[in-house]
Amino acid sequence: MSYLVKNYNRKKISFKYGRGSYLYSTDNKKYLDFVQGIAVNSLGHAHPKLVKSMRDQSKKLWHVSNAFQIPEGEKLAKNLCNNTFADYVMFQNSGAEATEAAIKVARRYFYSIGKPNKNRILCIKNSFHGRTLAAIYASGSKKMTEGFGPKVPGFDHIQFRDLKPRFPDIRRRIKNNTAAIMVETILGEGGIKTIPDKCLRYLRKICNEKKILLILDEVQCGIGRSGDFFAFEKSKVKPDIVPIAKGIGGGFPIGAVLMNKKAASGMTAGTHGSTFGGNPLAMVVGNTVMNIVSNKKFLNNVKKSSRYFLLNLNKIKNRYPKIIKEIRGRGLLIGIKVFKDQVFFIKKLMDNKLLTIRAAENVIRILPPLNVKKNEIDKALKIIDKVCSEFK
Ligand SMILES: Cc1ncc(COP(=O)(O)O)c(C=O)c1O
Repeated sequence: MSYLVKNYNRKKISFKYGRGSYLYSTDNKKYLDFVQGIAVNSLGHAHPKLVKSMRDQSKKLWHVSNAFQIPEGEKLAKNLCNNTFADYVMFQNSGAEATEAAIKVARRYFYSIGKPNKNRILCIKNSFHGRTLAAIYASGSKKMTEGFGPKVPGFDHIQFRDLKPRFPDIRRRIKNNTAAIMVETILGEGGIKTIPDKCLRYLRKICNEKKILLILDEVQCGIGRSGDFFAFEKSKVKPDIVPIAKGIGGGFPIGAVLMNKKAASGMTAGTHGSTFGGNPLAMVVGNTVMNIVSNKKFLNNVKKSSRYFLLNLNKIKNRYPKIIKEIRGRGLLIGIKVFKDQVFFIKKLMDNKLLTIRAAENVIRILPPLNVKKNEIDKALKIIDKVCSEFK
């Protein structure tokens, strides 16, 4: 009997502890964890520097209030701004809060320049921005919104397939009351679908032309996951607002909205707040993650691991063309699209001690820690190959 609400479809397994890429179950089995809390534990389990930061800070100060100065938060905000497009940061606790706050920032900007009716957000249908009311209606997914009406107004949608080289449809969908376009640079839950660089550049161009804001949700694909600190960097596009979460805390709940000066100009005192957002304990952990992940050498290593992983996954795909349809993704945000039911495939991988997780479109999501070792990738490849061979 469980007293937990049944809103999750949990696997019948629990864990005692984790080290790096591995999880150790309560029934004494060792699993290669290529879920890592769904792209959260960017440095794996129990990274010594994170453990030390947490331990040291826990003896000093956990929580004050945003009514006071928080030097640890100032430090992380400075670090994030010095390494990215951003001029300002606003801390939250989760991805959904960060995307909600990003929407608020966009609306508030137009309000502050005397255009309060410019408040609609154009999103991609069946994308994922979190589970709060606004975020589910931003995602526009029937499955996520069913039974949670009344509909939160203010969101319009385009299809992912409309992001084609010339995309006349997008321009038509921008009305006088559109405030921003909000998309995930790489759709995670939606099936590891990368928005091509030229499409991102086109979105930026339209936003400039129409004088609206570009919000790139990097909650899942940001913080080194793509091999660059942000996935959009490769396209050279500069967004106005970027919600982040997951990887920046390395396992500790942190969310944040990064923004440029223009977008931040509407957020005057009292316009937004969070009791827990930016607390000293979270900020110290975030600074440790940031110092490691923003390092060029570290990011080059993510790219190197990614190249090796993708190359060998494609070899497996070529060996089993009737089982694997496509290898997707960038960096260490990888998807294997299979022909048959991916849930069964995931179960087989788990039976072989490799943990992965599903995404839409029959995709198996693979999210190793960013500091994964070559021999761990080899081990995963071997298991994937074995499971494919058993499907034959
Ligand atoms: C792109 C994206 N945005 C927002 C969220 C919501 O984050 P959280 O679950 O921390 O609220 C997620 C979570 O998977 C995500 O992938």
